[in-house]
Amino acid sequence: MELLANEVELVNELCKRIKREEGKLKPKQRLKILDIGCGTGKFALYLREETGCEVTGIDPVREKIEKARMKSSSVTFEVQSAEEMSFANNTFDFVASLKALHEIPDHNDALKESNRVLKGGGKIFIIDWVGGVAQTQSHAHAQKYFTRERLKEALSEAGFGTIRIETNKRGELMVGEGEKLV
Ligand SMILES: C[S@@+](CC[C@H](N)C(=O)[O-])C[C@H]1O[C@@H](n2cnc3c(N)ncnc32)[C@H](O)[C@@H]1O
Repeated sequence: MELLANEVELVNELCKRIKREEGKLKPKQRLKILDIGCGTGKFALYLREETGCEVTGIDPVREKIEKARMKSSSVTFEVQSAEEMSFANNTFDFVASLKALHEIPDHNDALKESNRVLKGGGKIFIIDWVGGVAQTQSHAHAQKYFTRERLKEALSEAGFGTIRIETNKRGELMVGEGEKLV
């Protein structure tokens, strides 16, 4: 599955971190990843191919989910909003998201829900545009982008610990990582 040039660096870093966790856990079953705001499924399918994990993608837009389902049946795609998910508590080992958090109307609820559906010790990886920097001012939704500090604060408010925020070399995209505290 083709990523955009600006996505490759952080997405591959994220896959590396997931594989490292997998190496530590040595699970008997495939680890489970949830992609929130999956759109037509590109990132979810990439995660499936690169990590071998069981991947579920959610997006509230039915037409996008239908397109995603046409691409492959190796990932489960569901019409759901990140603010209110149907999954049971402690279902996923990882929650990941690419360029979607700024588009989710109630991102605080989405992060709290992500915390709920993650297993204890599970990790969240949010990749999104960095707000307030020159590199992203020309993008359409630039006012909605999180600064590094705001993303850190939002992850902390949602109950995540051990938070790390790193940007790509160009400083336009960041990955925010947090752990569900046990
Ligand atoms: C810029 S697109 C990114 C799509 C995909 N992650 C990618 O990188 O190709 C943002 C996505 O967030 C989705 N979205 C908007 N509101 C949402 C919500 N409440 N819960 C989950 N996803 C949402 C949109 O439908 C859209 O598909």
